[in-house]
Amino acid sequence: MLIRASDTPLLEWAGDTLAIGLFEDAVELTGELATLDGKFAGILKELIAEEEFKGKANSTIFTRVAAGNPVRKVILVGLGKPEALKLDGLRRAAAAVGRVAKKQKSKVLGFSFPLWNNDPAASAQAIAEGVQLALYQDNRFKSEPEDKGSQVETVDLLGFGGQEAAINLANQIVSGVILARQLVAAPANEVTPITMAETAQAIATDHGLQLEILEREECEKLGMGAFLGVAQASDLPPKFIHLTYKPEGTPTRKLAIVGKGLTFDSGGLNIKGAGSGIETMKIDMGGAAATLGAAKAIAQIKPNAEVHFISAVTENMISGHAMHPGDILKASNGKTIEVNNTDAEGRLTLADALVFAEKLGVDAIVDLATLTGANVIALGDDIAGLFTPDDAVAAQLEKAAETTGEKIWRMPMEEKYFEGLKSGIADMKNTGPRPGGAITAALFLKQFVKETSWAHLDIAGPVWADKENGYNGPGATGFGVRTLVNWVMGIG
Ligand code: BES
Ligand code: MN
Ligand code: ZN
Repeated sequence: MLIRASDTPLLEWAGDTLAIGLFEDAVELTGELATLDGKFAGILKELIAEEEFKGKANSTIFTRVAAGNPVRKVILVGLGKPEALKLDGLRRAAAAVGRVAKKQKSKVLGFSFPLWNNDPAASAQAIAEGVQLALYQDNRFKSEPEDKGSQVETVDLLGFGGQEAAINLANQIVSGVILARQLVAAPANEVTPITMAETAQAIATDHGLQLEILEREECEKLGMGAFLGVAQASDLPPKFIHLTYKPEGTPTRKLAIVGKGLTFDSGGLNIKGAGSGIETMKIDMGGAAATLGAAKAIAQIKPNAEVHFISAVTENMISGHAMHPGDILKASNGKTIEVNNTDAEGRLTLADALVFAEKLGVDAIVDLATLTGANVIALGDDIAGLFTPDDAVAAQLEKAAETTGEKIWRMPMEEKYFEGLKSGIADMKNTGPRPGGAITAALFLKQFVKETSWAHLDIAGPVWADKENGYNGPGATGFGVRTLVNWVMGIG
């Protein structure tokens, strides 16, 4: 899909489908729109009345225009109340338009949308993201897809002349989000620790990043007993991925992004039972997918921060080599862990990844993990939990997420709850009681970061959308990539 910044006046634009954004309760056509409707013999006014279109956010109506006009079809989309318009409102409205355009088999689509916050760059970027993310379709695993996908080839953003850089930025970000979606959506027999390492290699080669892959032996030498404990029942080799982006000049900041990378989570010997959603556990590398997606985007955007992308990738399986519940593992910082539940494996892999990240001497670490069902119980499917003892990093991430529409909510790091992780025999257990399970998971991770600013995002809910929702779903969302990009770019 080619997205163009266009200065063509609305009344002169010729193309297949014109999409017009209208604010709530302001749907009487005035000025240019009235002139346009005149050319269409008043069909828009009629349509608005007939369908009782009020401009409610993301509501759409559609009509064909009489032959002989430069435009063949019109989509009207509601933007809600002007004072309530968020940047994500433009993104979602663009997605709604994209979905109608797909249904109507549009090929050339023009957008006539107002600006958010008088900011043409942010607005153009959001529209370009929304339409592309909504129209992305994954037909990789169908031999004869019944839905062949959108036919939209060209999108003109009317009135956005000069915003090529913003559109380019959107395209770079979308490429990262789509990579993350593809990795999460692919099943565990397609995306394995080996293919994750290959994907990292492809990003490194295509975009000039440095890549280090630590094999099992090297992880052993570094004392990564927690990560390797999880990996030991898999027939596939674990891969510890470390991609590095370095800007040309002196970096302003050094950052690490760490992603949980379980290409499948069976639970281990504490195996996930029937009704536990075991068949969805291909998504358990959603943190690593966001990390690689962010790497792909950031490598193209070239911000002035140095960024390390880290993931300890393996599967949590069962075999005669499996960890026994009760085993004691030693992580690379020397701390010992009694594994009272093999299904709390993500935190074990992250423990060694966080220790590794801190040793790089970065200014801040953010990890993303599909870590706990408890976080989904607390915040539902759409919202990630943000856990950090550091108010400054919390504020940065909240700001970075704000305009993306990726919802994050700060959760308490209630130190007292660490009592639930006390072990009689080792330094800690890996699992506490059920209440506050997302909090104890975060407190566990905190044991592996000594003094670096650190935040943890529990993305178990939003990494997947069961139903269509704006520019997401159904399926993998690529959650986290857009917030990470903003964070690295210093937005927030
Ligand atoms: N990968 C799961 C968490 C998860 C659950 C992700 C639902 C996505 C959707 C994680 O490894 C896990 O099994 N967590 C356990 C922890 C428990 C054993 C303390 C859980 O949430 O039940
Ligand atoms: Mn698990
Ligand atoms: Zn897991």
